[in-house]
Amino acid sequence: MDRNLALEFVRVTEAAAIAASQWIGRGDKNAADGAAVDAMRSRFNQIDFCARVVIGEGEKDEAPQLYTGEVVGKNRKGKPTFDLAIDPLECTESVAYGRYNAMCVIATGPAGSLLHAPDTYMEKIAVGREAAGVIDLDASVASNIKKVAKALGKAVGDVTVAVLDRPRHVELIAKVRSAGARVRLITDGDVAGAVAACIGGNPIDMLMGVGGSTEAVLAAVPVKIMGGQLLCRFKPKSEKDIPKIKAAGVKNLKKIYTVDDLAKGKQLTFTATGVIDGPILNGVVVGAGHITTHSVVIRGTSGTVRYMTAEHHL
Ligand code: FBP
Repeated sequence: MDRNLALEFVRVTEAAAIAASQWIGRGDKNAADGAAVDAMRSRFNQIDFCARVVIGEGEKDEAPQLYTGEVVGKNRKGKPTFDLAIDPLECTESVAYGRYNAMCVIATGPAGSLLHAPDTYMEKIAVGREAAGVIDLDASVASNIKKVAKALGKAVGDVTVAVLDRPRHVELIAKVRSAGARVRLITDGDVAGAVAACIGGNPIDMLMGVGGSTEAVLAAVPVKIMGGQLLCRFKPKSEKDIPKIKAAGVKNLKKIYTVDDLAKGKQLTFTATGVIDGPILNGVVVGAGHITTHSVVIRGTSGTVRYMTAEHHL
């Protein structure tokens, strides 16, 4: 992976974040998402590369731009050498309604490295490096929390578990509390929740619950590079999703995926720019004559986690 390419990707997420930020709090999630998609696509097509979107805005018939399968880059007539997993705007509703946590996200790897996960749900549990070897998707919530606490050298009562605030998580939340740990509810954005668990000094120690399967692939890249673990298993939203999952080549629906199954090899990158403040990044700030963005660029080859603040002059 060309080191400069990683910096090109941050220009893409910055442009998407600035575009989406114009729609914060205006109640129009489609406009916010559309602005991010337009900015991301036009920036991708200025980069000297050829990449296939393996996780994108949806199937070709439902997403005119950055659809799954679209080839982007200045050399897009050629043979794609990169896989791209993107979420031009992770948490469209947070932007539309001015809620906590939204960012523009890109994960890349060599062609064939990223799981082409269809858009459905997965059960997930994510932790950072110290606890990477102790989690088990089939173990009880209390047992996982106890083992993570031990690995982190913390009391169970000091372990914080990020959980999406959804009715489907009522039982999980009760189990986390009865195990003695703390719950950090997030209205949206389990990519940031999983990445936060890998960042030393971040109050979030674990992510648990059911969230998007495409978000699992996006999160797997930084979690893997930072030495953490994300275990997940398909949980179809409805019966209708089962053929989609099978069509993606999944034979065993009960398979537990690790970060290595979701993102193969080392030549991976993760780039994100905050739109609204969240667990890992601050959002876009509009000043007098300039806009400030906050991004993170994580490279698999070196393992570097680079935070970047940029001032863009209007
Ligand atoms: P969007 O980018 O589609 O807005 O997803 C936000 C998100 O919160 C994800 O982070 C999460 O994986 C997913 O939605 C959960 O899905 P649901 O909102 O259906 O519970």
